Amino acid sequence: MAPSIAPEHFRQVLGQYPTGVVVVTALDSAEQPVGMTVGSFVSVSLDPPLVAFLPARKSSSWAALRAASDNFCINILGSDQEQICRAVASRKTNKFDGIGWQKSAQGNPVLDGSVAWIDCTVDTIHEAGDHHIVVGEVQDLGVSHNGYPLLFFRSGYGSFMPASMAAGDADLLDQLQYLDLIRPRMEELAQRFSSEVTAVALVRDELVLAASAGRPSLIDLPTRVGARTPFAPPLGSVFAAFGEDSIRERWLSQIPEQMPESVTAALREMPARVQERGYSIILGHERAAAMEIAFTRHSDGDSSVSTEDVIAAMGAVAPDTNPADEDPAGTKELRSLTAPVFGPDGRLLFELILWGPQEPIGHTDICDRAAALRETAALASADLADSLPRAAR
Ligand SMILES: Cc1cc2nc3c(=O)[nH]c(=O)nc-3n(C[C@H](O)[C@H](O)[C@H](O)COP(=O)(O)O)c2cc1C
Repeated sequence: MAPSIAPEHFRQVLGQYPTGVVVVTALDSAEQPVGMTVGSFVSVSLDPPLVAFLPARKSSSWAALRAASDNFCINILGSDQEQICRAVASRKTNKFDGIGWQKSAQGNPVLDGSVAWIDCTVDTIHEAGDHHIVVGEVQDLGVSHNGYPLLFFRSGYGSFMPASMAAGDADLLDQLQYLDLIRPRMEELAQRFSSEVTAVALVRDELVLAASAGRPSLIDLPTRVGARTPFAPPLGSVFAAFGEDSIRERWLSQIPEQMPESVTAALREMPARVQERGYSIILGHERAAAMEIAFTRHSDGDSSVSTEDVIAAMGAVAPDTNPADEDPAGTKELRSLTAPVFGPDGRLLFELILWGPQEPIGHTDICDRAAALRETAALASADLADSLPRAAR
């Protein structure tokens, strides 16, 4: 005989497990959207591609979905879509009023602003206690934008934050509020060059990758949000160029003594050069990738990468960073372009990085990208200035 477990206890214990939130949608015979909010969505099988969700047997929304169609679409909600989650979970009629959507190839509603969508046909429906297990065969799927998904935990809603960011970074939390405001600009730039745009914040003595937009254009790029690298030359030259004097001094003091004199001299001149030009540039993939990987491993505590290894990798990239003489002939590997974004008080908040393409490109193309990045960074700074009520400035 099954043990008797109090429903409240069951809910309380199972509530310790967080879930994402999806809205399952279909169109009824009158072409009206029907659907339900579901936390019990799961990926099931890759070959064949199957997913599943678990509706309550008595759910009227599930009955409506079943009556409407043999197809359904899973919409993974974004962290800014709590209202949609609540509206669809309600027992109201017309609960899709005011929610924008487009019809998928299968004829299901794909909700505007959802992070990703998965179009399915019903494969099997299993009985499981007071729920059904609905297995869907995936027909088509896609990511709409790379914002964070909505999360549900202990009856509350939230968003994902990497552990390395949640570690009491009050400064960074402040800056993250501003990031939401400039994200559309980052997305636009990333889309224009089919590339990735990242925003990096300076938190104490580390550079923290605070946000990313678009898709990685480089195969060897460890750009996971939350990654930290030391604030040391040649990385972070935009902070050294546009930050306060004390920041520049701190950056320069990180040039290791073992660095060859010619490299040290070039690094000392770098902040002025970046300031004059308005952006920073790194050319060449191989050495830059080796440095990024060395930094990341070292800061993750990988003992196979010594401090000396990191210094050597930094030294190798210094000549590729903001080279003094730019030869406009031929093509070059563009690793990254970086420009400053200023906060409402005029202080440097982030550096915005536009990552280059894998294949070499010409001088004009590099200049176009640099101009577009600078324009985006300037517009983002203007957006942030406008975000502050005048009285507070
Ligand atoms: C975050 C969240 C997750 C939910 N997950 C499920 C689920 O996995 N299965 C389910 O049957 N109902 C789930 N619900 C409840 C339904 O969305 C909806 O509230 C309920 O089905 C309403 O009853 P009705 O379908 O009879 O209208 C969830 C609700 C919320 C807010």
